[in-house]
Amino acid sequence: MHNFTFHNPVKIVFGKDTIPQLNQLIDKKAKVLLTYGGGSIKKNGIYKQVKSALKKRKIVEFGGIEPNPAYETCIKAIELGRKEKVDFVLAVGGGSVLDGSKFIAAGIPFRGKDTWQIVCTGGASVKSALPLGTVLTLPATGSEMNTFAVISKLSTKEKLAFGTPLCYPQFSILDPQTTYSLDKKQLRNGIVDTFVHVSEQYATKDLNTPLQDRFAEGIYKTLINIAPAVMNGKKDYDSRASFMWCATLALNGLINRGVQEDWSTHCIGHEMTEFFGLAHAETLAIVMPAVWKYELKNKADKLAMLAENVWGVKKGTKQQKAVAAIDRTIKFFNSIGMPTSLKDYNLTPADCDMVVNRAAQRGWKIGENSDINAKALEKIFKLCF
Ligand code: NZQ
Ligand code: ZN
Repeated sequence: MHNFTFHNPVKIVFGKDTIPQLNQLIDKKAKVLLTYGGGSIKKNGIYKQVKSALKKRKIVEFGGIEPNPAYETCIKAIELGRKEKVDFVLAVGGGSVLDGSKFIAAGIPFRGKDTWQIVCTGGASVKSALPLGTVLTLPATGSEMNTFAVISKLSTKEKLAFGTPLCYPQFSILDPQTTYSLDKKQLRNGIVDTFVHVSEQYATKDLNTPLQDRFAEGIYKTLINIAPAVMNGKKDYDSRASFMWCATLALNGLINRGVQEDWSTHCIGHEMTEFFGLAHAETLAIVMPAVWKYELKNKADKLAMLAENVWGVKKGTKQQKAVAAIDRTIKFFNSIGMPTSLKDYNLTPADCDMVVNRAAQRGWKIGENSDINAKALEKIFKLCF
């Protein structure tokens, strides 16, 4: 097991009808920048709940943060926040609104000439950030309890992540009832994103980390068990509550303590979103099985563990079990309506040359063995069917 430190200061307020608690969670004197997306919170009543909880506060609103939040949009919110001298950011929405708001919270006090530096430096240039709180409406990214944000620059077609402890939310409200208005695509995307987050931290090298592995398997098994109830679209509180908590725990820095991580699927997927406009989880469902096939030997121990402990595959050699883990994962994704092939989007491996070229320009050596370079990526795309 690798050495590690563990510190996560985010206060989680979880459960039914918890949005009114905003009143106690935000300083009474704070001037709040309320950030949200394209309007879903106005249709499903969440906006109304937030506004009524914050009745007596001074509020400045910034709506229109799009899926895969754009730098160009967030810059406008930063200008507004500076002009209005806000001192708290409240993000209400899915991962995109939360991520954009982390960038906004860091950008308002940023002193450098070019705010994109926050992203280019991976967050290292952030010296301070406004306090941030969130009301999560879409379980998927874990952004509500982590330091990360992924921002897209439209002008250069880049999508990059940054992270800094200064961007931990002070609190996040997780009311599973907010998920009732999600459509089947958004639910499926959230399940797959969560599954792949667990995988990027589990399906790597076996460093003899049994507790972390059992945590991860617990999230996998819970997700698999609740998926049918979540996907039937009914207002089933218990399955939505478990889904929301799985998504948070999958990427809040607990299951990856001391383990070897991968994240190559995410790196490749972010580029595919930029070039092809696919949703984040859609890219992951195509790429991860192909990365697993390409890395079959290196990942055999953990993939066989996944087959045995999660999918219940008891027979066969280690290699056969590893192959079974890939097959079962693909079947699971397909069972919730998630395509796993480039073909499903009318794309071919040749279309992905743009991503391969970018990997070459950036000198990629990604994956837990640093063995995925542009050449390897070309082979991986050939396995994306
Ligand atoms: O914009 P609105 O109108 O709110 O609509 C959103 C959006 O169109 C809608 N939505 C959200 N909550 C809803 C709802 N519709 C109805 N009812 C609700 N309760 O859903 C659509 C998608 O929302 P988005 O926030 O884009 O989805 P998600 O939460 O999957 O976030 C994806 C973004 O997060 C990044 C991804 O790269 C992508 O940019 N990630 C962030 C991570 C992190 N911060 O740690 C890690 C992840 O791996 C990921 O990379
Ligand atoms: Zn993800």
